Amino acid sequence: MDKVALVTGGNKGIGLEVTRYFLNHNYKVIVVARDFNQFEFADNEHVKTVTYDLSDIEGIPELIAQLGQIDVLINNAGIMLSLPYDDYPQDKIDHIIKLNIESPVALIREVSKQMIERKSGRIVNNASIAGQIGHPDIWYGITKAGLINATKSFSKSIGPHGIIINAVAVSPAETNMLDVIPEARKEAFKKSVITGRFAKAKEVADTIGWLGTISPDYINGSCIDINNGSFPR
Ligand SMILES: NC(=O)c1ccc[n+]([C@@H]2O[C@H](COP(=O)([O-])OP(=O)(O)OC[C@H]3O[C@@H](n4cnc5c(N)ncnc54)[C@H](OP(=O)(O)O)[C@@H]3O)[C@@H](O)[C@H]2O)c1
Repeated sequence: MDKVALVTGGNKGIGLEVTRYFLNHNYKVIVVARDFNQFEFADNEHVKTVTYDLSDIEGIPELIAQLGQIDVLINNAGIMLSLPYDDYPQDKIDHIIKLNIESPVALIREVSKQMIERKSGRIVNNASIAGQIGHPDIWYGITKAGLINATKSFSKSIGPHGIIINAVAVSPAETNMLDVIPEARKEAFKKSVITGRFAKAKEVADTIGWLGTISPDYINGSCIDINNGSFPR
């Protein structure tokens, strides 16, 4: 049987390239997102699209129960709102926390049940450099820091059952998410990295795909930097 990868937000940006990666590696791919209007793999026989708003945390157990075997979970869906810390409406805070941290944690909890039974599975969380160094969207940074921390915590609880769970932390990458970053900040960023450009979605997807397929088992509970020298260590 073909292996199955579940990719949240696998219809756009980095997630689309992750979907492409797994298709190229002969996986079946389940893509969960809200809008498949322009999704290039919508009619692909190896792709199942599931229209679902991942901020609905309560519905996640039922969502996963109906999807069957999942060998790889890629928690990719996420948003950045670029609102100032002192004018951040409570409903926006609630939404970004639900989508960026509660939903991946709920998905890990649900999908890991079947992975534990099989004593096998891989999970990759798409965090961000924002979770390591902070961010002007304070709740974006906080949720991404939480996702890195959750990766490490889960590796200790579910890792001994045969599950490999890691995160990636990319600096700005060329996707629609850059639309909400001011031009001056984008130019300043490019000056701060080694090659003077943003990451490509494919570069992030190749790293996520590697962690989701063949990376060594000993890499577990890690967060891989993809930031082109953005910060000194
Ligand atoms: N681009 C960057 O510079 C950058 C840097 C660091 C980390 N990241 C992380 O990479 C991940 C992907 O971002 P991207 O850059 O590819 O951005 P993007 O092009 O805006 O993609 C966001 C994805 O999340 C999905 N999504 C958003 N809200 C959702 C909801 N309520 N329910 C289900 N799916 C939802 C979107 O699909 P629908 O709109 O169809 O629902 C879309 O597929 C995010 O977690 C982001 O934080 C990005």
